[in-house]
Amino acid sequence: MEQIHIRPFQPEDLQRVVSINRTCLPENYPGLFFMSLYESFPKAFIVAEDIETNTLIGYVMGRIERGFSSLKGYKLTKKGHIVSIAIIEKYRRKGIATRLLEAALEGFREYGASESFLEVRESNIEAVNLYQKIGYVEKKVLPGYYRDGEDALLFTCPL
Ligand code: ACO
Ligand code: ZN
Repeated sequence: MEQIHIRPFQPEDLQRVVSINRTCLPENYPGLFFMSLYESFPKAFIVAEDIETNTLIGYVMGRIERGFSSLKGYKLTKKGHIVSIAIIEKYRRKGIATRLLEAALEGFREYGASESFLEVRESNIEAVNLYQKIGYVEKKVLPGYYRDGEDALLFTCPL
């Protein structure tokens, strides 16, 4: 897929990213939320663009949080939280989410994070497989985490 470029999010991309998020996921956010992540952690907000058609086809966004390490006992550390990732349907299973995540994890490293974490619906097999393939490991179940009552799986990964 040479015609897919991976690049940092730019403010002009906002409406398209909001629309991909609404099309692909039940967890939606106001535009200002996307912009505040971009302003605080631009290296962890990455988009994929089809340069043949000039359209955005996916995004990943994240933020740095401080908290206890999931990997090294009760040590306070910087952790890169993958907040949301989605690829529009017709571009799936071509390795694009993998490329986006790798770029976001590199951004987390540049911010000094030593591990990453994320939550995912337990029924979301595609995403669970993606995270496991990249090196995330299931840490625990978060019962009733989603608004509809579904459990989340908390995944963590060293950076
Ligand atoms: N069935 C089984 N495994 C899958 C599937 C699938 N349909 N799709 C991806 N995977 C796994 C495979 O292990 C795959 O490796 P392989 O193709 O070598 O077998 C691996 O993930 C990597 O696949 P990619 O091609 O990089 O993933 P893709 O670009 O298709 O995007 C994603 C995966 C983001 C989960 C996509 O299906 C999507 O947008 N889904 C809807 C939105 C969503 O669920 N986002 C995650 C929510 S959780 C969160 O945001 C923190
Ligand atoms: Zn989260």
